[in-house]
Amino acid sequence: MNVATRGLLLGGALIAGTWLIFQTATGYWQQAAATEPITSAAMPSDAFAAGAALFQRDCAHCHGVAGDGSGELAGTVPDFFPRSFREESMRFVSTENRAACREDLLRTIRRGIPEAGMPPSLTTHAAEQEQIADFLIELHRIAREKVLDVGEQIQVPERLSPTSNSEEGKQLFLANCSACHGADGKAGAVPEFPDELGRLAKARDLTRGEFFGGASDADLFWRIRCGLPGTVMPAFPSTSLSDEQVWALIDHLRTLED
Ligand code: HEC
Ligand code: HEC
Repeated sequence: MNVATRGLLLGGALIAGTWLIFQTATGYWQQAAATEPITSAAMPSDAFAAGAALFQRDCAHCHGVAGDGSGELAGTVPDFFPRSFREESMRFVSTENRAACREDLLRTIRRGIPEAGMPPSLTTHAAEQEQIADFLIELHRIAREKVLDVGEQIQVPERLSPTSNSEEGKQLFLANCSACHGADGKAGAVPEFPDELGRLAKARDLTRGEFFGGASDADLFWRIRCGLPGTVMPAFPSTSLSDEQVWALIDHLRTLED
């Protein structure tokens, strides 16, 4: 995206943001619905209102009052793109069908994405975190006309051996990952790839230990099994990599960190 386009987007976001910011949670939704023809169903009001208010308080300055990623902070820093819950896929998923389940959203809400500038949720109350997650599910469902939490969560299998053969992990990495991440994982001499909105970026530099979806073994297991929806990174289902091969890759990822 060039500077002029970014400027235009930011200007538009600011005007839309200022205009909409005075709306109440309910008024906001009616407004958003009126300006978003894709909306096809009415939001079930009570279940949604509490989460919507929390969203306006804690999330809208980045994700936009209408959840479209155009909050007033969006566009202020290069490559800072709060997710649009209306247009984009959720990337940090753990399900067979690669659609985020409630658990996936809750994980992101609790942890935040510090590597990308997203703080953890201000509220530590589990019930409030769940209200925000429910709001996102509903928003996403209505905007994209699909249900989010239909996926079976992939169970993270136990490891048969505590550490795997690092040579095997390295070979698997070279065969399956290096075309995008580079042989050394630094994504240096590799091309940029478009995401689903057409924004170009290199694959992640895996030597920095920055895993937006979390760095635990389970997180990395899901990232490899499910890939990153909305990006070019494919899923590696059990038909292409066995559980032990995924663990070998994870061990290799750990050796890449500087
Ligand atoms: C300071 C800005 C900021 C705030 C505040 C913020 N986010 Fe984010 N959020 C981001 C950015 C940037 C991304 C995209 C990260 C990336 O590049 O993958 C993101 C991504 C997400 C995602 C996508 C996760 C996925 O699986 O793809 C979810 C869900 C999310 N945010 C929820 C929230 C919720 C809920 C709140 C409020 C409690 C919130 N965010 C507050 C900046 C923010
Ligand atoms: C077709 C290109 C492509 C291939 C092949 C690929 N990746 Fe990726 N990968 C990406 C891109 C692009 C991103 C960054 C996506 C983003 O910005 O959200 C990424 C991000 C990641 C992340 C960061 C996840 C996070 O939580 O932030 C990990 C870990 C990762 N890849 C591991 C792998 C492994 C292991 C393999 C091989 C089994 C692999 N990738 C194969 C393109 C690829």
